[in-house]
Amino acid sequence: MAQNRSATDQMEKIVSLCKRRGFIFQSSEIYGGLNGCWDYGPLGTELKRNLKDFWWRRMVYERDDVVGMDGSILMNRQVWIASGHEATFSDPMVDCRICKARLRADQLDEKNGRKQCPVCGGFDLTEPRAFNLMFKTYVGATEDESALTYLRPETAQAIFVQFKNILDVSRKRLPFGIAQIGKAFRNEINPRNFTFRSREFEQMELEYFCWPDQGLELLEYWLKERLKFYSDVGITSGLHVHKIPPEECAHYSKGTYDIEFEFPFGIQELEGVAYRTDYDLTQHQSASGKSLEYFDEESKKRFIPHVVEPSAGVDRTALAVICAAYDEEKVPDEKGNFEMRTVLRLHPRIAPIKCGIFPLLKNNKLLVARAREIYEQLRPYMMVFYDESGAIGRRYRRQDEAGTPFGVTVDFDTIGENDPANVETVTVRERDSMKQQRIAISELKPYLMEKIR
Ligand code: GAP
Repeated sequence: MAQNRSATDQMEKIVSLCKRRGFIFQSSEIYGGLNGCWDYGPLGTELKRNLKDFWWRRMVYERDDVVGMDGSILMNRQVWIASGHEATFSDPMVDCRICKARLRADQLDEKNGRKQCPVCGGFDLTEPRAFNLMFKTYVGATEDESALTYLRPETAQAIFVQFKNILDVSRKRLPFGIAQIGKAFRNEINPRNFTFRSREFEQMELEYFCWPDQGLELLEYWLKERLKFYSDVGITSGLHVHKIPPEECAHYSKGTYDIEFEFPFGIQELEGVAYRTDYDLTQHQSASGKSLEYFDEESKKRFIPHVVEPSAGVDRTALAVICAAYDEEKVPDEKGNFEMRTVLRLHPRIAPIKCGIFPLLKNNKLLVARAREIYEQLRPYMMVFYDESGAIGRRYRRQDEAGTPFGVTVDFDTIGENDPANVETVTVRERDSMKQQRIAISELKPYLMEKIR
């Protein structure tokens, strides 16, 4: 899809900030990179951890009806045959006969009713053919069909094949869910839009098992829960819900919603929430010959549960929160001159660094010692960053770009050299409003903990 100039500029600024500040780097960069693969730097790693931890807290810790699991990436090939992935997990691919580019047929722009190659602008394209997205690999020392399997293209199947074990050990009654976060791999034909479409990425998936007559209601319930999650990680605008028309849903789905976000490169999917009926468990029961039924003690009924699946991408959510948070504004510097401030308005609960700790002057021993003590006090509880180099305004700006919501400055009041009423207090600067307030050092930890939880 063609992008306008300002959207492209915006995306370039975001990619550049991600690299400059250590959120995201190209994988294997010194060797020219590997298309569709990304490495997260110090700040990006914290951001992703915070997102995953918050998802886990919402899905598992704060609920009685969900337990977690952590499945292996490599599974028996039969899993992928039974799930239908080996036969049908593919995208339509065309080749450009002029420049030899390989392209996803369903993502091509048309000109005068003809699909156009985005690389060379030509129209001489082959007929589409199915390209399976799973990465093949061999388990053990023999590289033949008998050893073939795949890197998982989704985490969900591990949940389905472990359904019975987890049901037995957790002794949950329907409805209940199994949550999992982990890597997934897809050999995308055209990885693009930074990390949005990658070949290696992470998913956060919940399979919520239920009675057949609960499926449609739970689909609506999980859509609402998931929208709340996005707003609670700071995506308060730009979200869209796209109800997939029945004729476009997978044949086994009785309803699917896509949760979408307005990225600079267009409105794109963040998460799918799908009512998948009893399809997956039925497939695995028939293929394995092992019962995946649920027995209800009360009604004495035995049946295969239905499932509603909210399936989100960690990397896409990380990219969406960065895009939603990115801002530039003109603000006065210490001398009253206007300068451009780049600020990531990340929600404090997902911001990589929660608080910067700054002694006003680095050559004053008392200020430095007190700032260091505060740093040591806070670091068991949250990610804090100590910085004594450069003018205080510069230090604030650096943390603004990193998305750090709070800055604590130890000044002469703190050490009792000004107003005695301010002894043992610090200034706390809030990133978005840039307002400062004095807070007692003894109150600092509870103050920050409340804001970042
Ligand atoms: N188990 C269902 C499932 O995997 P999906 O819509 O194919 O459904 C779910 O994937 C989510 O995983 C997507 O909404 C997206 O957030 C993420 N995802 C899928 N493919 C991706 C890719 N190539 N790069 C980054 N994230 C991806």
